Amino acid sequence: MSIKIKHTENSSFSKVDFDNLPFGQIVSDHMFEMDFKDGKWQEPIIRPVEKFSIHPANLTLHYGQSIFEGMKASRHHDGTPLLFRLDKHAERLNASADRMCMPMVAEDLFYEAIETLVDLDRAWIPLRDGSALYIRPFMFATDEFIGVRPSLDYKFVIFTCPVGPYYSRPVSLIAEEKYVRATPGGVGEAKTAGNYAASLYPVKVAKEKGYDQVMWMDPFEFKYIQEVGTMNIFFKMGGKVYTPDLNGTILKGVTRDTVIHILNDEGYEVIEGPLSKDQVLEAHKNGTLEEVFGSGTAAVISFVNKLAFGDTIIHLDPEAFKTAPFLKSYIEGLRSGRKMDRFGWIKRVESLEMAH
Ligand code: COI
Repeated sequence: MSIKIKHTENSSFSKVDFDNLPFGQIVSDHMFEMDFKDGKWQEPIIRPVEKFSIHPANLTLHYGQSIFEGMKASRHHDGTPLLFRLDKHAERLNASADRMCMPMVAEDLFYEAIETLVDLDRAWIPLRDGSALYIRPFMFATDEFIGVRPSLDYKFVIFTCPVGPYYSRPVSLIAEEKYVRATPGGVGEAKTAGNYAASLYPVKVAKEKGYDQVMWMDPFEFKYIQEVGTMNIFFKMGGKVYTPDLNGTILKGVTRDTVIHILNDEGYEVIEGPLSKDQVLEAHKNGTLEEVFGSGTAAVISFVNKLAFGDTIIHLDPEAFKTAPFLKSYIEGLRSGRKMDRFGWIKRVESLEMAH
């Protein structure tokens, strides 16, 4: 499918301070937009970023039929934009769409949309280490109807934001003991807006107690670790790396999968399975808890310096971590082209615009 392009006549590029990029506040010049109507996707367009006009009866506003993805474009030191594991993001977007009764997006069109958009706004890719062009594809219902049923019409949009690190320092986590994020059979695995809305109140309470984020636990016994709202979670204990398995309640993190591949390749033993707080507390007690870190597209690899389970507070020293910094620099190395792409994860975005 060929994508029509309407260029901006009013770029905001020169107003951006690329040395100071708070996460998610600055939006690049162009966005991709495509509507689903009469049972099929209509002509896609890339055009200057503009506000939508929303009807008060818009179905998403009432019942949250909305999904999203998050990925990053970086720049090779030869200047070429690089995209990371697009296929995994396309797969997850369509899995979320299926769970939320929304239409699929053809993978080829998804790739073409992102490559064209990144090519057009390639100047917006920040160069500083740890910075990137964050790509936010999302889909939402556009029916103007307040009965509860799947929408017939949708809008699929992709916009981009030059970003710095999501967490610029180590994070503190508190294991949740009252609220839950996801139950088996729920929507925990889908990247849908409601999962994030549901996390806001517990995270607000955690912040009031002095923690950055909540670590979600299983909904029955509050015993098994699930994830952190903004990232998946890893524990290094006794030389082995543990992470909760994908049991339908946690997000299938692309960075999580990346971490597991790299660690296996480096000869680490990685254990994916039910991970109880008792295991972590025991490792803490006997001195074998070495590292705790999160993984996510936005978060990349974030070091955890404090972790609370009820009254037990575990302090960790990220300065002494070895595996988490290795992973962070490996992933950043792949994203800048400094590290060889042994797994075929990187896609170069050669200049496409001339073709249109
Ligand atoms: C991402 O890591 O891309 C996410 O979607 C997490 C979000 C909380 C920023």
